[in-house]
Amino acid sequence: MPQAPDHATLLAQVTAVGQQHVFAFYHQLNTPQQAELDRQVAALDWTLVAELIRTVVLHPQPFKLPDHIEPAPYFLHTPRDATMREKYRLARTRGEELLRKNKIAAFVVAGGQGSRLGWNGPKGTFPATAVKNKPLFQCFAEYLRAMELRFKAVIPFYIMTSTANHRATVDFWAKSNFFGLPSDQIMFFPQGMLPAVSLDGKVLLETPGTLALSPNGHGGSLLALHKSGALADMQRRGITHISYFQVDNPIVRCVDPLFIGLHDMEQADMSSKILPKLSSQEKLGNMCLVDGKMTVIEYSDFPDTLAEQRTADGALRFRAGSIALHAIRCEFVQRLNARGFALPYHRAEKKVPCVDIVTGKIWKPEKSNAIKMETFVFDALPLADRSMVYETDRLDEFAPIKNAEGVDSIASSRQITTLRNSRWLEAAGVKVPRQPDGAPDCTIEIAASFALYPEDIKARRVHLPTIKHGDQVYLE
Ligand code: UD1
Repeated sequence: MPQAPDHATLLAQVTAVGQQHVFAFYHQLNTPQQAELDRQVAALDWTLVAELIRTVVLHPQPFKLPDHIEPAPYFLHTPRDATMREKYRLARTRGEELLRKNKIAAFVVAGGQGSRLGWNGPKGTFPATAVKNKPLFQCFAEYLRAMELRFKAVIPFYIMTSTANHRATVDFWAKSNFFGLPSDQIMFFPQGMLPAVSLDGKVLLETPGTLALSPNGHGGSLLALHKSGALADMQRRGITHISYFQVDNPIVRCVDPLFIGLHDMEQADMSSKILPKLSSQEKLGNMCLVDGKMTVIEYSDFPDTLAEQRTADGALRFRAGSIALHAIRCEFVQRLNARGFALPYHRAEKKVPCVDIVTGKIWKPEKSNAIKMETFVFDALPLADRSMVYETDRLDEFAPIKNAEGVDSIASSRQITTLRNSRWLEAAGVKVPRQPDGAPDCTIEIAASFALYPEDIKARRVHLPTIKHGDQVYLE
């Protein structure tokens, strides 16, 4: 291990980039506090920080919409003809084979701060399910366990945290006995952090002895996979593909044989799942082709003139909304890191409580006072030689929990999940009580051990329950 630089070296480093105020209160700190601040300063790449302050904070380039944007082509959820049906059959078989040969790893990005949800803890510990209140992490663990049993596979699980929630995440899993997964199959690693910076380019302090740090965006996962040794661990295990998902969706198919199979058959470096957007304004990234390269343009950057365009049959022309599920070839992540990790940094204006350097008092701003800098994983798509896009089914796979209430909230997520489960049970002949408006008049939770797909329910016909109005049903 290289020795950590001493305080004088660190002071010289930050002084060289005009950020020496980060040590303004150093002499008022006790020895452990000084050591902690030194550690935080030493962990940052100050050349990068200075470069980002110049290019992202002080002289940001306004987002420039590319000249040539086309809707991205994608594989439909339901194949249209016999040729495509056969292709999907082969793809599913290929994906299952890859699973059986232990070639697939699951990877969740759980480093985000979950500030919109207002949950005081790692987002993955949030109670997500409608009857048993299972945390998001448990939903993923049970899904993976069920897949392992079905395919007699080993699916190593990589969990990216941030330094802010790493300890709490690891403790939570350990306390929960890893939800039945072998602990040597799970690897936790924190992503990189970056400081919030004032609008005039000064790194902010959260307290007199700590920097105002936040995770460097989910794009940082591609760097963290490499730096943490996770990628090398995958290599040792013979993994070839990573199934990437976000922490916010309890019904995500953490690994999906059809999707992985199509991705592999198409020889894609990085593939994505999309949903047809419900409206032109739905807050999903837009999957597009820019100069022939697969690209996601965030909803906030996508002009109404494009979002509102319609095809002759009245459908949205740009309808493919990214739901941030990707299949990624390990070799592609290696290539990205070997050529020098370079995803663009995005700028977000935020309200960040911080120390007033003159008075030393903590200041809670009422309007945006800071810039946070993040990379996005989907910015790797245009760097891929080949990319595949597949349309999944909204009800089957998308019930994200992002907000405390309203759209994409815990309430909407539980409602969608009960709807999905009602559809699955009804397809197997179970009568689900409905309200006059058609909504299920019950709450239904289905564990992955009970069914991974609707077809699994039919196969269990004898165990199916009778459901009465207002029932809370849990099937495992
Ligand atoms: C994201 C996508 C959007 C997509 C939508 C689908 C972005 C910018 N947008 O929006 O295109 O349509 O999901 O649900 O991503 N995370 C980290 N480290 C970080 C930042 C985030 O691990 O530094 C993780 C979070 O824990 C979470 C995920 O990334 O799992 C999504 O982050 P978030 O910022 O909440 O993105 P969304 O606005 O939900």
